Amino acid sequence: MNKIGVIFDLDGVIVDTAKYHFLAWKDLADHLGFEFTEAHNELLKGVSRVRSLEILLDIGKVKLTDEKKQEFLISKNEHYLQYINKMGPEEILPGATELLDNLDKLGIQYVLGSASKNAPLILKQVNLYDRFVGIVDGNSVSKAKPDPEVFLIGAKKLKLKPEHCVVFEDAIAGVEAANRANMISIGIGDKNTLSEADFNFNNLTEIPGDFFTKVISEKIFVK
Ligand code: G6P
Ligand code: MG
Repeated sequence: MNKIGVIFDLDGVIVDTAKYHFLAWKDLADHLGFEFTEAHNELLKGVSRVRSLEILLDIGKVKLTDEKKQEFLISKNEHYLQYINKMGPEEILPGATELLDNLDKLGIQYVLGSASKNAPLILKQVNLYDRFVGIVDGNSVSKAKPDPEVFLIGAKKLKLKPEHCVVFEDAIAGVEAANRANMISIGIGDKNTLSEADFNFNNLTEIPGDFFTKVISEKIFVK
């Protein structure tokens, strides 16, 4: 088989941390005196921490000084980390471990490509950190998704051309970043929301057994 590699988004693909982000952001919105709903939280998926705060403040029509913003970014993250520190392997999303096992069996390497600055900690909490040949997280990029930077660095860590990389993503911005990087994009979640992806699945349990050996290989190498 010709060489391909995989890049995984973390939040919403391997673990569901969106629920913890929601609780921490909602607490801040409560403090600032406006309502923050789960629908609002959807807007923050795949978006950096700083950008998330800006979106949240727009929702509440609240203006803050840069100093106050810094203060809330720190307190939100401290609150979020209280949940993360309680996470364990039981929070790995269905199908993720089996998919990594299958990739190991096929000799296909994988890296992480996440906007989260907490990505290494989260992977350690769920005992997956050592399985990745590289981690690209919110600390290693200067441009957030939908900019392709995070995935292009991932391709370098895999020592592969971008067009030989397959990206698993649950966020619109992430699918766009993968497409802009000239990679194969796999949308995990609602097909209508992630309509720009090359392939769509509701979750990782739906990936067919021959997906990498047949479907992806043919798409990449058979022109
Ligand atoms: C992921 C999540 C976003 C989150 C971002 C930054 O992309 O989907 O909702 O805002 O990471 O996370 P961090 O852990 O750095 O605050
Ligand atoms: Mg995500």
